[in-house]
Amino acid sequence: MLTTAPSPALHGTASLPGDKSMSHRAALFAALAAGESVIDNFLDAGVTRRMLAALTGLGVRWELENGRLTVHGAGPAGLEPPHAPIDCGNSGTTLRLLAGAVAAAGLPAVLDGSAGLRARPMNRIVLPLMEMGARVAAVDGRPPLTFTGGRFPLTPPERFHLNVASAQVKTCLLLAGLSADRTIRIVEPGPSRDHSERMLKTMGAAIRSSRADEPNGNPLYLTEMEPPTALTPLRTALPGDFSSAAFLIAAALICKGSDILIEGVGINPTRTGMLDAMRAMGADITVSPSGEKGGEPFGDLRIRHSRLRGTTIDGPLVVRMIDEFPALAIVAAFAEGPTLISGAEELRHKESDRIRSLCSQLRAIGIPAEEKPDGFLVPGGSVPSGGVVRPFGDHRIAMAFAVAGLGAGGLVAIAEPEVMDESFPGFIQTLLDLGARIDP
Ligand code: S3P
Repeated sequence: MLTTAPSPALHGTASLPGDKSMSHRAALFAALAAGESVIDNFLDAGVTRRMLAALTGLGVRWELENGRLTVHGAGPAGLEPPHAPIDCGNSGTTLRLLAGAVAAAGLPAVLDGSAGLRARPMNRIVLPLMEMGARVAAVDGRPPLTFTGGRFPLTPPERFHLNVASAQVKTCLLLAGLSADRTIRIVEPGPSRDHSERMLKTMGAAIRSSRADEPNGNPLYLTEMEPPTALTPLRTALPGDFSSAAFLIAAALICKGSDILIEGVGINPTRTGMLDAMRAMGADITVSPSGEKGGEPFGDLRIRHSRLRGTTIDGPLVVRMIDEFPALAIVAAFAEGPTLISGAEELRHKESDRIRSLCSQLRAIGIPAEEKPDGFLVPGGSVPSGGVVRPFGDHRIAMAFAVAGLGAGGLVAIAEPEVMDESFPGFIQTLLDLGARIDP
């Protein structure tokens, strides 16, 4: 158990570990390039260690020292069939991205993971991969995924139409598209994060993104890539993870008198929807852009404690802040008036069913919350009384409730706090350095 307590104002400057989504991509894309890639500020955490171990299983050599990842890539044909099932742990990104690479390489391989990962939907990648000609089977639409291999070009349909906006699915298909015999086109209903497109472009891929509207006015997001593509090695430094920053933003907003600076954070607009939501709630947040690294914008965030009002969130904004609802839910509890989230049923398919785990654990610490099929409602204006929180193996639930304790009226104890290391090792130390009261 880890206990967080009502805290004084937070002050100081924090810098964050590298972005999780970009770290996954950098490691895997570098393995598919021919030559040596060097990636600085690589996230060394539970989920990215799963990706690196998987690459070892596929015969890829790499070294990770002081945040610098060196990958000795040998091109897609350099991947070897693994001797044992690849254990992706609880990391959906590891499994879904690897699936695209394994399909492109035509390798026999089994991709598996934790009980939690085995409960997550995979038909969203399995069906389109099969449509392209990959030989892959799931168990009832869930992991393990068994690839039976065979080297042949994959043939995408004229267009893939995804039912949900998902960067994991889009990236899986783009990777499979690296060995396709025609242009791959992916249409999504929302603006999912575009890190793969940006990174693949810096590696020489011919890739384009555009936006169109359906006749009924609904926006469609199109990504197109020409095959075949030989990828050049990566030399880049990754920005801090905006999704990790979200918890510090929430902490500063709820602890009275706080004024903190977070340096070197990725501010790609497909990731920063939470800033829009927070500003609509009245948050005092200043973004100072610093430039670009590897095609990704980054900058500093200054956050001052603010009086907040409730808001409504739905549509494309949901996609642009899909990982930030745990942090948002805590901020919403302290705001004046209700916050209503809708159009967010995807939250049920994350590391936990986040609609259920957020609502049940908000209530466990004395905050009213109402579950909806596609979102939730937090009436606001409550000071949590405290209590014991179960994160259900979900790193973001654990971190969100650790933050809730800082503004609570009593202690908040988090069971299985080690799950926070899945994406943000050093989270608790970062909060302590800013002045939070925590008993680790
Ligand atoms: C991710 C995409 C999102 C996000 C996840 C990381 C990625 O998932 O929730 O944490 O790196 O592509 P979906 O693609 O399922 O929306």
